[in-house]
Amino acid sequence: MHHTTSTAAGTPSDTKNGPGHDPAPSGGLGAHLGATAGRETVVIVDFGSQTAQLIARRVRESGVFSVLVGPRATVKDVAGLRPKGIILSGGPSSVYEAGAPTCDPGLLELGVPVLGICYGMQLACQMLGAQVTRASHREYGRASVTVRDTTDLLAGLSGSTMVWMSHGDQVSASPADGRVQVLAATATCPLAAVRVVDGRRRVYGVQFHPEVTHTPDGAQILENFLFAICGCSETWRMADFVGQSVERVRAQVGRERVICGLSGGVDSAVTAALLHRAIGDQLTCVFVDNGLLREGEREMVESTFRDHFRIDLRVASAGDQFLADLRGVEDPQEKRRRIGSRFIEVFKGATAGNAALRGARYLAQGTLYPDVIESGHGLAGVSAGIKLHHNVGGLPAEIGFELIEPLRDLFKDEARKLGEVLGLPERMVWRHPFPGPGLAVRCLGEVTAEKLSLLRRCDHIVVEEVTAAGLYRATSQVFAVLLPVRSVGVMGDGRTYEYTCAVRAVTTEDFMSADWSRLPHELLARVSSRIINEVRGVNRVVYDISSKPPATIEWE
Ligand code: XMP
Repeated sequence: MHHTTSTAAGTPSDTKNGPGHDPAPSGGLGAHLGATAGRETVVIVDFGSQTAQLIARRVRESGVFSVLVGPRATVKDVAGLRPKGIILSGGPSSVYEAGAPTCDPGLLELGVPVLGICYGMQLACQMLGAQVTRASHREYGRASVTVRDTTDLLAGLSGSTMVWMSHGDQVSASPADGRVQVLAATATCPLAAVRVVDGRRRVYGVQFHPEVTHTPDGAQILENFLFAICGCSETWRMADFVGQSVERVRAQVGRERVICGLSGGVDSAVTAALLHRAIGDQLTCVFVDNGLLREGEREMVESTFRDHFRIDLRVASAGDQFLADLRGVEDPQEKRRRIGSRFIEVFKGATAGNAALRGARYLAQGTLYPDVIESGHGLAGVSAGIKLHHNVGGLPAEIGFELIEPLRDLFKDEARKLGEVLGLPERMVWRHPFPGPGLAVRCLGEVTAEKLSLLRRCDHIVVEEVTAAGLYRATSQVFAVLLPVRSVGVMGDGRTYEYTCAVRAVTTEDFMSADWSRLPHELLARVSSRIINEVRGVNRVVYDISSKPPATIEWE
């Protein structure tokens, strides 16, 4: 099992009722979320939905801070976050199933508006005494809803609009129940969107998923909930976050020294830039050159951090050691294991061999919010034992530093925005994720210096051409893979027998599932002809047209 550098690599069932959202036994949720202090927050209760994180991101994209909690969060926990609104996510269960997740009914009594999405709507309506009907079959896919009421949740919509449905059960209310007001309906789902007002309890429900792109008016619906109904204002801005984080880091660090491991990836780069802003020359960065990096990666790190930011950067060159460890190894997991343990060795060596670093108390890591949620410590208010960030190869807890994780409230796209605000170069901020084991898992079979060199040049051409075509930002990951397959070709008058390069390009929202990118044929043709002409040793280029699942993004 490997992990993404950028997003939670869990499955939807990981979050369902999982410990990931268990509230702290004491201290409450607020203990961890110092970040919510004085900040307008919307709390999202995650019932195991594949899209719970997406809801949280959509809310933040609208300028409102959001926090995910598990179904077992108590009313006290949630009230401690002083939410302006609560969203109940969808989920794979039926409210009739034994053990189906439920939430504290007191959440509906807090006097803040609640929006239930799909399962969340059914649960909330059931708590209010409405009936939920078991479906004979699942409704899945696009549906057209007729909008009936545009006073609040559906303001700005008219006539009919397309929505994404994915449900079995649905809410049915008796006409006598005057509390339930229908806002929208479909042919098969008469209560596709509702408003239920019952004393202090103000609940909105949508049977469809406003958070997915297949619901074109979804963003409008969520914003109606946030702004018109909850009365939020757009207070979640990266520029403000910088100031608050700088203060927090200074308060935590005092006069101590901090080490930050750089990987070349976005998360560690943003962490370093933020720390530098907060504590200046109390920061030292360590970059391990494992010889498995992309073309120009080490130079980019050096020029950005050493020359531009003037950060004290130590580079440990250890390519030969990594390569020696990988000799004769073909199994991908064994490659990962050896790279991981060598990384720890080198990192320890780099810090122990230097007086300034030996005295450091803190280790900064670019842990992001999805890692926090996934690792089960999101709400526990402790950083000990937190899942270590894979970008720096995963350092063991016993390495002896206290952790600083200034990005632990942020999603990846927010970390990128923060990087821009901090003045990191665009090509670093928007760099595609790169696995910790680097080119070793893109060089199939045994890794050798010769194969790495071929792969690096192929990869560079792929990225250069995709960028020149203006498609780098539109794709989520683009790279080359060197296959251990040699095939026959002709070049001039001669026969060649050389390696095959596979080009991989994917588009994804969360890296848990991904579609292969429909790159234009002309672009693929340029990539192919450049690789074959410029990289001696490769005579064939293929394009990977597999989606995830069932394939994965990486080949190993
Ligand atoms: P897969 O291949 O599982 O990749 O579809 C999903 C995401 O995870 C990245 N990845 C890794 N990141 N260490 C990392 O830091 C790893 O061992 C690793 N393996 C895959 C991959 O690049 C993609 O973004």
